[in-house]
Amino acid sequence: MMASWYRTLWLGGLLFLPAWATLEEVFQVYQPVPTEGSGSSACNEEVLLMDYVFGESYGEPYIGFYEPPLCDFDTVRINFTVSSRGTQYDRLGLMYLGDTEVFRTSTAEPTSNGIIWTYVKDMSQFNVLWKEKQKLIFDLGNIVTDVYTGSYNTTLTAYFSYEGNVKTPDAILPISARKSAQNASSDFELPTDNATVQYQFPPTTSRAVVSISACGQSTEEFWWSNVFTSDEWSFDSVDGELYGYSPFREIQLYIDGILAGVVWPFPIIFTGGVAPGFWHPIVGIDAFDLRQPEIDISPFLPLLTDNRTHTFEIKITGLDVSDDGEVTFSDTVGSYWVVTGTIFLYLDESASYSSAGGQAPEVIAPAPTFTATRELVQDSTGVNETLTYSILAERTLTVKSSEFVWSQNLSYSNYGLINQEGLSQSNLQHTFGKFSIAQLTGNKTSSEVIFEYPLFMNETYGLLADDGLTISAWMHRGLDIESTGGLGVSTFTLTSGPLDLHTEQKGTAFYESTTNVSISTGDTTDFFESNAAGVTYHRDVHAVNGSVVYDTVS
Ligand SMILES: *[C@@H]1O[C@H](CO)[C@@H](O)[C@H](O)[C@H]1NC(C)=O
Ligand SMILES: *[C@@H]1O[C@H](CO)[C@@H](O)[C@H](O)[C@H]1NC(C)=O
Ligand SMILES: *[C@@H]1O[C@H](CO)[C@@H](O)[C@H](O)[C@H]1NC(C)=O
Ligand SMILES: *[C@@H]1O[C@H](CO)[C@@H](O)[C@H](O)[C@H]1NC(C)=O
Ligand SMILES: *[C@@H]1O[C@H](CO)[C@@H](O)[C@H](O)[C@H]1NC(C)=O
Ligand SMILES: *[C@@H]1O[C@H](CO)[C@@H](O)[C@H](O)[C@H]1NC(C)=O
Ligand SMILES: *[C@@H]1O[C@H](CO)[C@@H](O)[C@H](O)[C@H]1NC(C)=O
Ligand SMILES: *[C@@H]1O[C@H](CO)[C@@H](O)[C@H](O)[C@H]1NC(C)=O
Ligand SMILES: *[C@@H]1O[C@H](CO)[C@@H](O)[C@H](O)[C@H]1NC(C)=O
Ligand SMILES: *[C@@H]1O[C@H](CO)[C@@H](O)[C@H](O)[C@H]1NC(C)=O
Ligand SMILES: *[C@@H]1O[C@H](CO)[C@@H](O)[C@H](O)[C@H]1NC(C)=O
Repeated sequence: MMASWYRTLWLGGLLFLPAWATLEEVFQVYQPVPTEGSGSSACNEEVLLMDYVFGESYGEPYIGFYEPPLCDFDTVRINFTVSSRGTQYDRLGLMYLGDTEVFRTSTAEPTSNGIIWTYVKDMSQFNVLWKEKQKLIFDLGNIVTDVYTGSYNTTLTAYFSYEGNVKTPDAILPISARKSAQNASSDFELPTDNATVQYQFPPTTSRAVVSISACGQSTEEFWWSNVFTSDEWSFDSVDGELYGYSPFREIQLYIDGILAGVVWPFPIIFTGGVAPGFWHPIVGIDAFDLRQPEIDISPFLPLLTDNRTHTFEIKITGLDVSDDGEVTFSDTVGSYWVVTGTIFLYLDESASYSSAGGQAPEVIAPAPTFTATRELVQDSTGVNETLTYSILAERTLTVKSSEFVWSQNLSYSNYGLINQEGLSQSNLQHTFGKFSIAQLTGNKTSSEVIFEYPLFMNETYGLLADDGLTISAWMHRGLDIESTGGLGVSTFTLTSGPLDLHTEQKGTAFYESTTNVSISTGDTTDFFESNAAGVTYHRDVHAVNGSVVYDTVS
């Protein structure tokens, strides 16, 4: 039931600012990325990629033609600056170079006085694409009406420099719908689409990594609060349909039908999510830059470098829980997830797996363990009063060739409670993962990433006369990443080299909608500390009712 109602009622933060104010700055708390090149002056170029107003842009992405600068660069950073005024939903944005998704973002919800934000991102991982002419496609589907008046006015700039940075991939292959020739967005929508592509790898491929970009929309936006499918109608009179397939999701990568790795997604919350007062002016963790977890597929190289084509498929599943508590993969989910993948290839002229004769890796993927509980309590008149449910999950996966071993170790828990006959819902979720790749020969290098995604959310509705509604919510959530650093610029840690990141957000939010008036208030604290490749950054921000109360940066 999270946020299933106010979405049609939210009329923007009308009370946030006095009328004379200039555009209010909204922001995501993250470790700043410099835009000015710090390296040699041999290359320091700024290129305007897009200056565009997303108004009636649903299904009509921006199409631009990118030409690389003439100087030799190894570092590319983008500055995405957006302003908006009026009332509007949060919107998802996908940026592509050709058929390859390079950036997934979402928008902040505007106010009647207007908002502005800037997000700066290192894009050097895609250098091999930036070195060629590209069709730049930016898909930010927006709809403007008499009520939803806000357009998203955007400026996208790229800065090119030469800084002697890490080696980045030599070739990039998209796992996408590859529709750039039709001027369309290349995302797959699961479960409807078949997210399968076929490629033949260069025989000199020495390393290969797949990043997965995936987020839920519509009935899957709040997947972490979904119920077991059998409970979809348990609170029909108050909530209508609740969404099913449990609060657990797994995204799977298959190569030639063999499971190569999995992703247990971060519970991203967009700026209209649950109660918008939480996310203004501090947006939710990663709302402006959705991380893409990485699966190292190097153990598949003896197979993939056999000069034949191989299939790469992305699937997503939730869970089916039977009445006696037996848990199985549902092999499908509600509508829908927006999904792409990217294969990053590193070539080495001296590498040659071709002699290995198309050998598939050894995959040790025991069935995940799942434990489910569910209890529905009715009052003395038979009305459904309280539903408690939980899922615990664990899995390990090892993919091994003579030269590489990829390991994943994941655990997950979610405790859900719906009470007050469906007016209140809370979920306490925790995801933990440890991914590693080790080379068994030569330099015996290895790298590892460990992450945790804790989330607590409690939301309670109040019903007022004349279809009025209140929402009271509180939350506490976080993101922890510890990484040794691996190849290139990670699409998950967003840096090259090691990362040690701890961030949390906690707060309360209130929303009230009565005839012709809506009020949104909130109190959010955001704590962020990180050490990215040796640079430390610490920020502690507190905002109440749309205004920053303190903001300490060190
Ligand atoms: C966005 O662009 C439109 C069309 O040019 C303009 O009317 C509007 O004022 C702009 N909004 C902001 C916040 O700059
Ligand atoms: C980002 O671009 C905007 C204009 O589009 C500019 O005003 C701002 O200074 C830039 N920010 C950085 C950090 O370069
Ligand atoms: C794609 O967009 C470009 C620029 O607007 C246009 O010139 C071209 O005809 C379009 N191609 C297709 C297939 O629609
Ligand atoms: C998806 O497409 C692949 C390759 O075209 C095919 O082998 C596979 O059976 C399809 N899967 C589904 C579920 O249709
Ligand atoms: C109570 O929940 C059960 C199980 O979901 C459902 O079949 C039943 O219709 C619900 N009762 C009411 C009154 O909504
Ligand atoms: C690889 O396959 C291509 C056709 O896809 C063929 O032309 C080429 O000769 C093959 N190379 C080797 C080394 O077998
Ligand atoms: C997975 O990680 C957990 C937490 O670090 C650890 O207790 C467990 O032993 C690991 N399992 C395997 C199979 O490595
Ligand atoms: C081992 O590491 C050295 C130094 O980093 C590098 O030059 C060499 O190519 C590596 N060898 C292999 C087989 O990876
Ligand atoms: C969520 O909040 C409501 C209202 O404050 C309260 O009744 C309920 O017990 C809370 N749930 C949890 C799990 O704290
Ligand atoms: C709400 O707005 C409508 C149209 O502007 C108006 O007719 C109506 O009187 C308003 N209702 C209240 C309670 O202010
Ligand atoms: C925030 O707004 C709420 C509701 O109007 C109010 O009760 C509270 O006092 C406000 N907080 C501050 C610090 O202004």
